[in-house]
Amino acid sequence: MTATLIDGAALARRIRGEVAQRAAALTARGTRPGLAVVLVGEDPASSVYVRNKVKDCEESGIFSVLDRLPSSTTEDALLARVRELNADPAIHGVLVQLPLPDHIDERRVIETIAPEKDVDGFHVSNAGALMTGKPRFRPCTPYGVMKMLEEAGVKLAGAEAVVVGRSNIVGKPQALLLLQENATVTICHSRTRDLAAHCRRADVLVAAVGKARMITGDMIKPGAVVIDVGMNRIPDGPNAGKLCGDVDFDSAREVAGAITPVPGGVGPMTRAMLLVNTMEAAERAAALDSERNAGSKR
Ligand code: GUN
Repeated sequence: MTATLIDGAALARRIRGEVAQRAAALTARGTRPGLAVVLVGEDPASSVYVRNKVKDCEESGIFSVLDRLPSSTTEDALLARVRELNADPAIHGVLVQLPLPDHIDERRVIETIAPEKDVDGFHVSNAGALMTGKPRFRPCTPYGVMKMLEEAGVKLAGAEAVVVGRSNIVGKPQALLLLQENATVTICHSRTRDLAAHCRRADVLVAAVGKARMITGDMIKPGAVVIDVGMNRIPDGPNAGKLCGDVDFDSAREVAGAITPVPGGVGPMTRAMLLVNTMEAAERAAALDSERNAGSKR
């Protein structure tokens, strides 16, 4: 039996359509949603990501600004730019693409983004809100994964969920979102003693390690749902340069019940959820504005 494919590209298309409708409705009421994306330096992968984010905005009726700053930009200059965007009423979401050059303190930059504009959900107050079960912005990748699990009809309550990877961007928030849905969650990482044994217990396995084809079919429980967050480039051989996941797709699909492809799985969903978060930020800002206006008329 081969696994069912979870089509992230199709679900992302539907979500973008819903965002476009919400964006049009909010614009008609006088607030055009706006996203600012800041890229420091010329990392080729980051350049592609930010270009795609801006293109997605255009197609959904969200106003966007792309700030490309040279890699020599100082931390102070970047912080000043973030503060400007925080204060700009046309901008509802601020995203600083990671990683940043080594001379810039990433945490300091993230904590400077206004929490109500932090559409990545990386600010410590948004991370804390998620941890305490009252999320304001869910980080886009794990949020997209949850939407895919929902779409695939996966029952999470009581399920064994194993997350491989513990980054602040994916692994940790993913574990919290699964926990929120009452899964029994295990987080595995580079120091985990018997990774294969943990993976084999998983009803839901989320791979977010950044190592090409590390999770093989023999590490998967028959019938499990496998979500591949990996975005790796194959270094050599006949497929050099092509994108591949953290999961060895060919062996995994013979064992899993459902699996996400790379490309066409998690990637498009991450992009779609950024639009959703930006939309939510704009809707909240508009609601606050109208409350204030109602107050001033009283
Ligand atoms: N770099 C890799 N993924 C992300 C992301 O989701 N947001 C930002 N800001 N940078 C990233």
